[in-house]
Amino acid sequence: MLTPDLLDRAVELLRRGGVIALPTETVYGLAANAEDELAVRRVFAIKGRPANHPLIVHIPDEEYLPEWAREVPDEAKALARAFWPGPLTLVLRRTSKATDAVTGGQDTVALRVPGHSVAMEVLERLGGGVAAPSANRFGRVSPTTAEHVQRDLGDDVDLVLDGGPSTVGVESTIVDLSSGAPAILRPGGLATEDIERVLGRAVPVRTSTTVRVSGSLESHYAPRAGVVLAEPHEAVQRVEALRAQGLRVGVLGPASLSLPTDVQRFDVPGDPAGAARVLYARLREADEQGHDVLVACLPAASGLGIAVRDRLSRAAAPRTFDPSIVEPTK
Ligand code: TXA
Ligand code: MG
Repeated sequence: MLTPDLLDRAVELLRRGGVIALPTETVYGLAANAEDELAVRRVFAIKGRPANHPLIVHIPDEEYLPEWAREVPDEAKALARAFWPGPLTLVLRRTSKATDAVTGGQDTVALRVPGHSVAMEVLERLGGGVAAPSANRFGRVSPTTAEHVQRDLGDDVDLVLDGGPSTVGVESTIVDLSSGAPAILRPGGLATEDIERVLGRAVPVRTSTTVRVSGSLESHYAPRAGVVLAEPHEAVQRVEALRAQGLRVGVLGPASLSLPTDVQRFDVPGDPAGAARVLYARLREADEQGHDVLVACLPAASGLGIAVRDRLSRAAAPRTFDPSIVEPTK
């Protein structure tokens, strides 16, 4: 239970340079006072994240935008008004309040108002910005429950606030409005169609950029088991082919698949929003069962399905940075 006492403690910790795990509607964040450089550096250390990968600053509401962004274009205002609090991050030109520690030395800052009562309460009481990446080790699956955070980061954080399972389940959609036409840097919990409806124009996805968006690394969100992607109609065939090679195979997909009875299935519904909500939890559960390979069914490529497909393809990408993976010999 989250008591007022616990919220007081969370805010006090943030004021004193502590690092806490904070529930949001997308995923749990690893939070530090964004104006406290030492605390922000601790976030990087705990995550094992390269210092040049910038963090998102979470603010209590859109009134705080001018403190952090020196230019707030009309399109940014329109999106903030339509979707905050919610799973949308805006990249804007920074003020000096957004330090190099937070922005990785870039001239822009990523800002968002999270739509979760616990996060909002903490931000309001703090009355300032909180820098928070997802509360997982760099390159691994993001946490959507307090228990996930506890298992990954446990004693390294000063406090884990439990706000229940994240309802959106994938990270926020990042929209760059810092120069010229808007572009999506990371598809996420807010559908592109919704953004385009408010702006009245097409908004392209631009994931390959000079900006270091770690969620845009090819291999990310990676469980330990291998991940093989399948459109629903191919899934059963894929499973059989992998099993024929002697591999232990698990499946992430809907109940409608006709799988052999001895294949373990982790329920990921076919509808995009439902898939987003449970994706990370199911990836973790499946990974704990010691399968060699997980066959992941892809949801339709619309709405939040774009984000789910994006995360699954990164989970399936060859690992380039994990030293525990040994290159196969020829
Ligand atoms: O839903 C979310 O966005 C979650 C919750 C906790 O709010 N946070 C999250 O943070 O996903 P993180 O650090 O895992 O991902 C933030 C992404 C990174 O890929 C980072 O590179 C990008 O935001 N980012 C931050 N500042 C940026 C900037 N100035 N320009 C472009 N990308 C930026
Ligand atoms: Mg992350």
